[in-house]
Amino acid sequence: MDESHNLHTLPPLATRAGAVHPFRAMRIGAQADMMEAAGVHVIKLNLGQPDYDAPEPVRTAMRDLYDGRALPYTEAKGLPALRRKISEFYATQHQVSVDPSRIVITAGGSTALLLAVALTVDAGSEVLIADPSYPTNRELVRAFEGVVVDVPTSAYTRFHLTPELLGQYWSKRTRAVMVTSPSNPTGTTIAPDTLRAVCDYAREHDAWRIVDETYLDLADVEPDGTRVPSVLSIDPDAIVCSSFSKYFGMTGWRLGWIVVPEATVDAVDNLATNFFLSAHTPTQIAAVECFSSEALAISERRRLELLERRSIVIDGLRGLGLPVDVAPNGAFYAYFDVSSTGLSATEFCERALQEAHVALTPGADFGEATADTHVRLSYAASRDDLREGLDRLRAFVGSLGAKRAQ
Ligand SMILES: Cc1ncc(COP(=O)(O)O)c(C=O)c1O
Repeated sequence: MDESHNLHTLPPLATRAGAVHPFRAMRIGAQADMMEAAGVHVIKLNLGQPDYDAPEPVRTAMRDLYDGRALPYTEAKGLPALRRKISEFYATQHQVSVDPSRIVITAGGSTALLLAVALTVDAGSEVLIADPSYPTNRELVRAFEGVVVDVPTSAYTRFHLTPELLGQYWSKRTRAVMVTSPSNPTGTTIAPDTLRAVCDYAREHDAWRIVDETYLDLADVEPDGTRVPSVLSIDPDAIVCSSFSKYFGMTGWRLGWIVVPEATVDAVDNLATNFFLSAHTPTQIAAVECFSSEALAISERRRLELLERRSIVIDGLRGLGLPVDVAPNGAFYAYFDVSSTGLSATEFCERALQEAHVALTPGADFGEATADTHVRLSYAASRDDLREGLDRLRAFVGSLGAKRAQ
């Protein structure tokens, strides 16, 4: 039976299932995979997938766990030993005190975001989100029947919200602001003073602050040389979503966490119990090793390596006449402007894949404000791949110029 026939015989889907958007990055990835299957060598700079995996002590711990022992559920909030380690990490890495009782382990930062939105958003609640930003935030708010208020941002505010922007877009239905710092797609952090002012504004107007710090530990210093703080040292009642995927290189292991205010712990516990019972037990046990000195040293070396790769990419793109409006100081993304090529960002990505065999992500994945003008490049790829990708893009951009000159 073919699928179209099947759909006619099924009851209607929930509206949210039809309304949710796919990630273009995934579709481009699928196209790139098909090209590779046909023998084409594609340089993949489209996904937020680091080219490293979990640090060795974590892999060893995971191997040891598969010896036939029982692996029961943990409590819904997660393995106490892991929550204690995360709490210690906040103290040593970010000089902020977070009681382990406020930390809930999740299946990746994705499920942390799911819990954050489930906890705070009612039907009709308005949620302010910087445009451009990580697409899942919007989809989750809509799935819970909230209203996404996209706030266009620009290089002028490092592509982040400011209290002035909040003032322009605020309404009496505003229930939360969502901040991602360092940002996906721009790799820029929100300046600490701006973050403080945004949190103050939202708190004074009785709204939640949901801050996604998935990339925080990959961050370089702020442009003024100061260390990038966790929002928890600025606003202890912010809801923080975080992940083992990026700094610890554990994308496929599916582990993250959420930090919530003390008064909401029981509600989050109930949501977590009903949504997923507990995160994957062996992964939680193995992840305790992330905080060993050996694993932390490995992760730190990787962070420094990513900063080197950032220079290769930023210099390379500038040399191609494709400006990166604000240099990223976190994550592993460069968000560059392709307007000078005469192509829309989506056309640029489609043609770069077909003609130069380089996979990139168009701005349309991240909102509307920069959908036509900007493209995201992920530099969590090897130095060789980055250099080869830039060479191919040079030839591709050159061919566009030549065609326009004809
Ligand atoms: C900003 C941001 N938040 C959350 C996630 C979710 O990742 P994971 O579920 O692997 O932690 C991602 C993934 O790319 C991301 O870029």
